[in-house]
This record gives sequence, structure tokens and C-alpha cells, in this order.
Amino acid sequence: MSFSLPELPYAYDALQPYMSRETLEFHHDKHHAAYVNTGNNLLKGTEFEDKSVEEVVKGTFGKNQPLFNNAGQHYNHIHFWQWMKPNGGGPIPGKLEQQITSDLGGVDKFKEDFIQAGVGQFGSGWAWLVVKDGKLAIMKTPNGENPLVHGARLILGVDVWEHSYYIDYRNRRPDYLKAFIENLVNWEHVEEMYGSASA
Ligand SMILES: [Fe+2]
Repeated sequence: MSFSLPELPYAYDALQPYMSRETLEFHHDKHHAAYVNTGNNLLKGTEFEDKSVEEVVKGTFGKNQPLFNNAGQHYNHIHFWQWMKPNGGGPIPGKLEQQITSDLGGVDKFKEDFIQAGVGQFGSGWAWLVVKDGKLAIMKTPNGENPLVHGARLILGVDVWEHSYYIDYRNRRPDYLKAFIENLVNWEHVEEMYGSASA
């Protein structure tokens, strides 16, 4: 199965003022598209040609770094677009909020620690909210890596590569992360992923 670039689930200007049309045009149409195209070229002739994106990510980790990088980034971005929505942020749905409170010390503490994971990721990478061993946890990973290859199920992630925020926030990564968590997250989608990750 070759990779294909999904459409954004909203208009390019729908996330303004927190994420601009220009950022989404570059990020989706250039960066994500490049992972798809490069990934497809690297897939050719490998044992992974008819595998799902998840299987390619898991199967190439530590074995085929160029294919892993592109498949990982393709996988991460498919989800990243879904984790945002216009008028996002706001209250976290009840069951997930309760779990955040019991596993992560409350909503405020979770938000602080999630932002800190993104700020503390040296260079390019991602910060995550995951389910691991039946509990919620915060993780960070470099480059195209993700929690799938560390035995965790991802339910929320934020891209901290500079291409995700430099047009809108320049070097102010903490401001971008705060805007993401307060104004962009599609909590209903996170809740849905939490439901299937903990089932
Ligand atoms: Fe990205």
C-alpha cells in the first residue's frame, strides 16, 4: 500500500490566528507531501510495499532509517491534522479529564508538563500524550520517531519541528505550544483515540 497525502480536515485559514494559512500551506502541501513522496520512493522493492503505515513504522525502526523517518513523519502528520480544529482547546471531556487528574496530577499540571516536553525536545521532534501499561503518560521523541515504537499508544501529539511554528511564532516555541493546547486541540478526537487505546 503506497502512502497518500490526506486532505486537511478544515480550510487552510480555519486555524487562524493560532496557525496561519501560510503555515498550513507549507506544512501540509510541502513538508507532509515530501514525506509521502520520499516514503513511496523508498518503499519500492522492499518487503513493506503492501503493509499499512503502522506496520512500516514498526518494522523499519532501527533497521531502515531513511524509510522509517519518512513513514514515521507521514504517520505522525496524518494524526497531527486530526488533533486540531477551529475553536479548539476548551474543556477536556469528562472521562479523559478524570484519567488525566489521576495519572498526571490534574489538568493544569498535565498542560504544563506537555508544554515542557515540547520545549525540552532538543531540535526537531514531537511531544505526546500516550497510554502506556494502562496509564496516561507524557513522552517526547526526536525527529520522526513516535510512541508506537516504544510500546505506547498515542492519543495526542504536537509537532515541534520549526516548520510547524516558525512562520507564526518565530523562535517562540513555548507560545506555539501554549496556543496549541489552549486553542487548537480537538479534544473529542483525543477522547476517541483514548477510548480505542484503553479498550
Ligand atoms: Fe511537521
